[in-house]
Amino acid sequence: MRNVTPETLTETLLGLSGPDTDPRLQEVLGSLVRHLHAFAKEVGLTHAEWRKGLELLTRAGEMTDDERNEFVLFSDVLGLSSLVDMINSPSGCTSSSVLGPFHILGAPDLPVGGDMIGENPGPQVVVEGVVRDTHGDPIEGAQIELWQTADNGLYSNQDPKQPEYNLRISMATGADGRYALSTIRPAPYMVPTDGPVGDLLNATGRDAWRPSHLHFIIRAQGYRTLVTEVFPSDDPYLDADAVFGVRRDLVMEYRPGDRAALAADIAARDRLNDSFSKVDFDFILPRQAA
Ligand code: BEZ
Ligand code: FE
Repeated sequence: MRNVTPETLTETLLGLSGPDTDPRLQEVLGSLVRHLHAFAKEVGLTHAEWRKGLELLTRAGEMTDDERNEFVLFSDVLGLSSLVDMINSPSGCTSSSVLGPFHILGAPDLPVGGDMIGENPGPQVVVEGVVRDTHGDPIEGAQIELWQTADNGLYSNQDPKQPEYNLRISMATGADGRYALSTIRPAPYMVPTDGPVGDLLNATGRDAWRPSHLHFIIRAQGYRTLVTEVFPSDDPYLDADAVFGVRRDLVMEYRPGDRAALAADIAARDRLNDSFSKVDFDFILPRQAA
């Protein structure tokens, strides 16, 4: 050990693992350590820079609690969350995307066609579609959770003026796999910038904006749970998402609504403004691996 050098340290460290170390842990940790050491050598990391990095992580730890996780936000803005999503997304299915920190459990049930607008101001939209398997067959009884911002760009758990479960629902698809609801258009917003992640974005001249989106979690027996988001094609931040959540197949279109063409189960049908829009968006779920 006393002869350790920058050239031998990495393999010396990796050679310390005991014979019972889980092989996958050894693979993942080994690669992480190799890349970490190679990174320090490549940039000639100084003591001041090393301390700064540890200071950022320490501050992230201090800011993190049950409601706010600054480490996840680091992973998001550094593209790691989306990279893990993309490399684990099977082809031929709807892409997954970041969960984000604003999901809460217990959203109220809404029947297919139900209304989420309630008292919310903002441009109205009817969203509907079908949850399908990879053969195109509808999935009955898929459980959908949907949550979004109000017109002010805030989620209900960020805004004391909104009811606890405002713009959050749970819905089971019918025999035809269909979901449908009326809501308002979500608004773009900035990821939290009052911590070390904000400092990093600032120091590198990056935007904190996320394009507006609808969050979905879709669960169905025998299928892989899909955590994703859907983004309108006309959002000004579509190509500038601070957390890289947008995928080509997750882009939806706001089309002009036609009241006469709405299905009879759209509860808000006769109350919608004349300027309401319509979105049709289907989801494809992969089968659960055996
Ligand atoms: C969100 O979409 O809610 C979100 C995702 C990542 C970071 C911050 C917010
Ligand atoms: Fe969000």
